[in-house]
Amino acid sequence: MATITVDDVEIKVKDDALLIEELLANGIEIPHFCYHPALGKDGNCRMCMVEIEGKKRPQIACDTPIKDGMVIRTKSDSIQRVKRQILEMELINHPIDCPVCDQAGECSLQNYYMDVGLYESRLSTTKTRGQKHVDIGANVVLDQERCVLCTRCVRFTKDITKTKELGVLNRTDHSVITTFPGKPLSNPYAMNVVDLCPVGALTSSDFRFHKRVWFLKPDEGICNGCSKGCSIYVDHHKAKYEDDTIFRYRPRYNDRVNGYFICDDGRLSYKIENKNRDSYAQIRGNESEHEYATGKLVRLLKRHHGKALFLLSPSLSLEEMVEVKRLAKYYDAKISGYDINEHDPKFGDDYLKCSDLSTNRRGFNLLDIDDKEANLVEYASGSEMLILIGRDDASGFDKYKNISVKVSINASMPKSAEIYDLFLPMKTHMSREGSFINIDGYLQFHKTHVEYGTQTQSLCDIVTTVLEEQSSTCRDIWDKSLTSIIKNIDLEDIKKESIKMSSL
Ligand code: SF4
Ligand code: SF4
Ligand code: FES
Repeated sequence: MATITVDDVEIKVKDDALLIEELLANGIEIPHFCYHPALGKDGNCRMCMVEIEGKKRPQIACDTPIKDGMVIRTKSDSIQRVKRQILEMELINHPIDCPVCDQAGECSLQNYYMDVGLYESRLSTTKTRGQKHVDIGANVVLDQERCVLCTRCVRFTKDITKTKELGVLNRTDHSVITTFPGKPLSNPYAMNVVDLCPVGALTSSDFRFHKRVWFLKPDEGICNGCSKGCSIYVDHHKAKYEDDTIFRYRPRYNDRVNGYFICDDGRLSYKIENKNRDSYAQIRGNESEHEYATGKLVRLLKRHHGKALFLLSPSLSLEEMVEVKRLAKYYDAKISGYDINEHDPKFGDDYLKCSDLSTNRRGFNLLDIDDKEANLVEYASGSEMLILIGRDDASGFDKYKNISVKVSINASMPKSAEIYDLFLPMKTHMSREGSFINIDGYLQFHKTHVEYGTQTQSLCDIVTTVLEEQSSTCRDIWDKSLTSIIKNIDLEDIKKESIKMSSL
């Protein structure tokens, strides 16, 4: 460790780090465009200037290694003057069209300009114009006039995806970001350039102009697109007289799982989540009162005591799995997690995307839930009632003539609702909390509360209603069942960070 003084305050920092990394890590605001922790330094924007005692001129913090005893000033008059001059340069040809820019509210340029900008332009010459709303592929729209040429987007396609679709064309004030002729931006992680772009030059055609960002409420969630379980922000908003709606997913930094990025498939999967919200129970295809339908489930379970089979999705949370196990035990029912549908060999790659599309398959191992095909065949052959939870593949059981009752408990209506004697809706992935284990064995907590404004219960609440118990929170379920299985890790620990389970 080294000790440095920043604006008259001594701080301890890592001595092998870059100055900007440690300043940002210590909550000291340093304006920057081109530096990004995932892409490193480039030194082109000059926004991160600081004054270092003993140096004649201001230095860029993104290319200055820490030295013990350094004395740094980040807010002196001369630094403010330098920042103002750099911003004036950046804005010479910028349209300053914040009111109609989709980045407004989360734009670094707008923020720095409001802090130290020169509000009166000293230029009388016409601004150099660039191309506006250029579709460069992969749902990304480019406005060349707003670009500050930080090259984050170019370096992302060069260093992270290694697809190299973007480049800088021309020189001086005619320099623009562009794609090569006939080669649009096209890679499975392309939309990350929208998050990387510090200004409104790259925006998402999927999100732009749908909602002003200051209306959005960001919840911390886990993507359920595949077994990687990337950390995301779930940006949602409930307007008056409307349902709470998710407008976008954004990557949430997690050095143990996904770093700074997510894939485009996962990012756009919020649309399925918005669609998957069936709030009405059904009995043989006819709408039913929720309470009546739950009562019917209890009657069916009693009638087929010892002859029911619960078939679970590998994407349920640990809390849901353990609660269903309890319910199955009460009714002396069999339980299986066998599933072949949640695999797509074409989906996986060697970066984040995994071919196993389930969110919590490792939960089956932890909770001893059988997922072998041979056992499922045996259980199905001896059962009269089938209860599918979080999945919709009952048609595969048509050959078992002994199964006379089929029940579906799911977030969305089954495709062939008429084949079920009973359908009970449950809360979707983004409208309830829960713990999950990802493909690499990281135990993590998903805390989102998108409320669809319906009476729909969570799966855990359905179980407690059937068992005529008080409803339980995740904390209750951990205390009751999970703490004795997951030793040395507590729910409160995984609320802070993902933790690798040594036993998996
Ligand atoms: S488009 Fe955005 S990320 Fe790319 S160089 Fe311009 S400002 Fe930077
Ligand atoms: S890699 Fe998987 S978990 Fe991560 S964002 Fe993509 S689909 Fe979601
Ligand atoms: S962030 Fe340091 S020069 Fe751009």
